[in-house]
Amino acid sequence: MALPAHQPAATGFPQGHVAFSLRKPQAADGAVIHRLIAACPPLDVNSLYCNLLQASHFADCCILAEETGQVVGWVSGYRLPADPRTLFVWQVAVDPAVRGRGLGRHMLTALLARPDLGDITTITTTITPSNRASWALFQGFADSLGAPLRHDAHFDRDCHLAGTQESERLVTIGPLPAMRAVA
Ligand SMILES: CC(C)(COP(=O)(O)OP(=O)(O)OC[C@H]1O[C@@H](n2cnc3c(N)ncnc32)[C@H](O)[C@@H]1OP(=O)(O)O)[C@@H](O)C(=O)NCCC(=O)NCCS
Repeated sequence: MALPAHQPAATGFPQGHVAFSLRKPQAADGAVIHRLIAACPPLDVNSLYCNLLQASHFADCCILAEETGQVVGWVSGYRLPADPRTLFVWQVAVDPAVRGRGLGRHMLTALLARPDLGDITTITTTITPSNRASWALFQGFADSLGAPLRHDAHFDRDCHLAGTQESERLVTIGPLPAMRAVA
């Protein structure tokens, strides 16, 4: 899938993100999170109920961004059940109207800077080979932390995704530095 050419915003990073307000989600945010994800292809639109669970059960590992009272950014994640010091980042969604202002990076940095995630040593996510924006986001984030990024085969189009979707690479960032700067 061809992605639009990236045009850095005139405001740039980091000044561009100062207007955004970041917070943990709550259940009442589920519906607006669901709408934001629907506006952010190629993300999978999961059920609204899934977003409700993320915004309530997994709120400590998720972050929501607002600008002038509107929800414009979202990161969902959870600790791996078998390895709780690894944070799996499930989806990152930035409203098309505010892309290129550093919000994706700002949310990931702020999430990881939370005191209750201070024991996280590794971040994982999956990325399709064609999602250039996502690769740039996570590579830039890893670089900003001074942490190595590697990627390996993971969910295969034919074996795991019933031939319906592009394969997903498993991206691993870590080990993370013990002292992390606040975004
Ligand atoms: C991926 C996404 C979250 C990036 O959000 P964003 O706020 O525009 O990203 P940022 O402004 O923080 O940019 C982070 C880095 O990615 C780069 N980047 C962003 N969009 C890009 C694009 N379309 N092509 C190439 N590079 C891109 C930026 O230049 C920046 O690079 P740097 O670290 O060298 O400065 C956003 O494009 C989006 O919501 N896409 C649709 C959903 C999706 O694919 N999510 C990711 C998979 S979970």
